[in-house]
Amino acid sequence: MTEAESFDTGLTQADLDPERPAPIQTPWGSFALFVVGGQVHAVQSFCPHLDGPLFQGTQSGDTITCPWHQWRFSLVSGARLDTGAQLFGGHPRLCVCTVTRSEKGSLVLSRPGIRT
Ligand code: FES
Repeated sequence: MTEAESFDTGLTQADLDPERPAPIQTPWGSFALFVVGGQVHAVQSFCPHLDGPLFQGTQSGDTITCPWHQWRFSLVSGARLDTGAQLFGGHPRLCVCTVTRSEKGSLVLSRPGIRT
């Protein structure tokens, strides 16, 4: 069985609450849809540190801060941005899906990857 290359969420952007990104199940695990400047970004729902619920984190523009230990990540690239990453090394990144729209307007995620 091959891994899915894309996943139609069945959701439109109008279905999303920019204040409360909800985790959704995909063929690649749980991802959360965030709205940043009118664009939808999909990142893994749980933190690469200790699985904190990133979808319950604090969003500021295109960054998300994990509610458990305050690691901060870019919602666009997935890069870890907080000072701890600079001081102590270790730069875990979020898995990020490219988001496009189907002909019906639903949000379609591409298989996640690590962006550099
Ligand atoms: S679980 Fe997210 S920073 Fe620790």
